[in-house]
Amino acid sequence: MSFAIATQKRRSIRALQPISPIPDSSIIELASSAILHVPSAFNSQTTRLTILFSEAHLKLWSITASTFETHLGAERYNSGPADRIAGYMKGYGTILFWDDVEVVEQARNGAPDVYKDKMDEWMHQSNGMHQYYLWVALEEQGLGVNVQHYNPLIDGEVKKEWAVSDSWRLRAQMVFGLPEKGIVVGEKEQKLAIEERLKVFGGEGES
Ligand SMILES: Cc1cc2nc3c(=O)[nH]c(=O)nc-3n(C[C@H](O)[C@H](O)[C@H](O)COP(=O)(O)O)c2cc1C
Repeated sequence: MSFAIATQKRRSIRALQPISPIPDSSIIELASSAILHVPSAFNSQTTRLTILFSEAHLKLWSITASTFETHLGAERYNSGPADRIAGYMKGYGTILFWDDVEVVEQARNGAPDVYKDKMDEWMHQSNGMHQYYLWVALEEQGLGVNVQHYNPLIDGEVKKEWAVSDSWRLRAQMVFGLPEKGIVVGEKEQKLAIEERLKVFGGEGES
């Protein structure tokens, strides 16, 4: 599948099964590829990934469930979050996206003055690029993918469970698994006409 087609096909798929059409080694290879090849400002390489399969994936979502139940109280937790979290637990695995803020500080120190206040923004952009690359790449392999943000409430427990460095900050949780049979993802609403969001000047594209 071409990159352009994979981009068009990518959606948020939240109804997942604990099955993968590809071996774990292929998922690890895609994550390695993201780490090695996705760009970062001044090549600072601030993004970190943790891949959780099987019991580690289940552990993440049980940490999330108990943290949110304590935080929200049983009534609010059971009025929506409980079902959503149970749904993510049904996936095959989760990739955690982190930034190493110690490395960002080093990059900031080495950056020209005019860019020093941009380093946080660029760290987030690079992290988002890692997320997008893996979102498209996993879907292209037949997996359903969605991105969640239960950080920072779960950070403490997650860092303890997997002995994560103090300097890593959790940014996103990417859940993946085989899409449930028969799920239909509706047409995506476009809030403005393309012409309102894409302007072309010069060349053959100018209207
Ligand atoms: C930066 C960002 C944050 C998002 N956060 C969440 C989230 O916390 N939970 C969730 O279910 N979806 C999340 N999404 C998915 C969006 O809701 C989704 O991409 C959007 O509605 C468009 O639908 P599509 O992904 O099917 O094209 C996020 C997407 C982006 C780009």
